[in-house]
Amino acid sequence: MRKFVRRGSAAQGLGSLLEKIEILRASLRWSAKTNEVDISKLLKQCNELRDEAVNQLRRDRMLAATEGDETKPEPLRQSTGTAKSTADRRKALDERQFVFEGVFGDSAELLDAMEIAERAAPTELPVLIQGESGTGKELLAKVVHANGDRSDKTFVSVNCGAIPENLLESELFGHKKGAFTGASSDRRGKFESADTGTIFLDEVGELPLQGQVKLLRVLQASEIQRVGSDQAITVDTRVVSATNRDLLAMARRGEFREDLYYRLSVIQVTIPALRDRRDEIPLLLDYFLEEATEKLKRGPMQLSPRLHAFLMNYRYPGNIRELRNIIFRMACLADEVADVRHLPAHVLEEQPGDPAVVDIMQETPRSLSEVKKAASDAAERLYLEQALSEVNGKVTDVARNLKLNRTHVQGLLKKHGLSSRNYKRTKNTGNQTPDNVGTQ
Ligand SMILES: Nc1ncnc2c1ncn2[C@@H]1O[C@H](COP(=O)(O)OP(=O)(O)OP(=O)(O)O)[C@@H](O)[C@H]1O
Ligand SMILES: [Mg+2]
Repeated sequence: MRKFVRRGSAAQGLGSLLEKIEILRASLRWSAKTNEVDISKLLKQCNELRDEAVNQLRRDRMLAATEGDETKPEPLRQSTGTAKSTADRRKALDERQFVFEGVFGDSAELLDAMEIAERAAPTELPVLIQGESGTGKELLAKVVHANGDRSDKTFVSVNCGAIPENLLESELFGHKKGAFTGASSDRRGKFESADTGTIFLDEVGELPLQGQVKLLRVLQASEIQRVGSDQAITVDTRVVSATNRDLLAMARRGEFREDLYYRLSVIQVTIPALRDRRDEIPLLLDYFLEEATEKLKRGPMQLSPRLHAFLMNYRYPGNIRELRNIIFRMACLADEVADVRHLPAHVLEEQPGDPAVVDIMQETPRSLSEVKKAASDAAERLYLEQALSEVNGKVTDVARNLKLNRTHVQGLLKKHGLSSRNYKRTKNTGNQTPDNVGTQ
């Protein structure tokens, strides 16, 4: 799991780390007696410092990689064509210590987005992130911030769709005392708060035309004016914006200023919908299972084969956010094994039918032989899942029970993206072992 941490210059970062270590050493040296509670507090601090040091190291390497000619990230490649395989691209990102909070797989389109974000991060260029709701636009905006030179500065997020039109200007640029009824004191706006850092303009397509004009002016001049004031204030704010709407189409219809669109979208990144990168569903399931069991302070939870099949095939109109919500709901409602019956009604309504064959009839037009093949694949997958569950994920036992060659079974598991680890249980409780729950 990769986490965000703040970065200053290498020297600054190391200086503050050393300072914290010294404080820790002093509290150890001068403590007359250390009780159990103190020990666990100190241990926690030590662990935090260790994580900080590791992350610092990663960032320094990342900086070196973007600064030094020889170690610069390789040029972006198209997802199609003869370039590197997606697995290699994924590995290369990891090796460059790309900072990302979450998990992602080998989808070519998503890797395109990550690589563009990585390239854009150390620049000052405005980035426009496009994608359906819940695909991870805000997460990617933080990636741009966390992998750039401003990562130790503020990241200010503004939901442009949630601010009433009459308050927009004051919210973004601040106001002077007495500028309007209720303005009882001077107030800084979001742009000033994000000075030297990054401002994330979420749902930028919802900005009313009047607000668009003002935003354009700020982007052109790097200056703001608080409402009710004549004084121009220079701001140094990197702009990253996001939308789930087609801004260019809106611009053509006259609903969004074309000049603003071009200002905001110097770098464009599109995050694909989850249903178009299904290879990531197992990774996300593990990731959110781990997060949910930790946050809800509960024991491990397994997904029944039937539920697993459903979640692998569901269309996720709400994308990753919806998947996360489903897992949290399960972690709250289910005991050791979550099943289809724990799904919210709207999810089942969205995609009715037998989970095993749910996806089969979905994509029309399909020939009869394609439908038969899909049905046979779905049945094969369920059969394997059942067999794995019965023998606690032991591939050798599956092979023996099904009278198949072990290599053949392994090939089948690979074909269906199944991991035998996910079917291991502890002897006493019948639960997954901690190692198998939510590992990436
Ligand atoms: N690759 C990922 N790994 C782990 N968690 C993720 C990933 N992508 C998104 N998430 C999680 O999914 C949820 C939705 O992500 P985010 O808020 O970034 O989406 P969004 O595109 O901004 O959504 P909206 O358009 O509705 O504002 C968040 O909880 C986020 O942490
Ligand atoms: Mg968002």
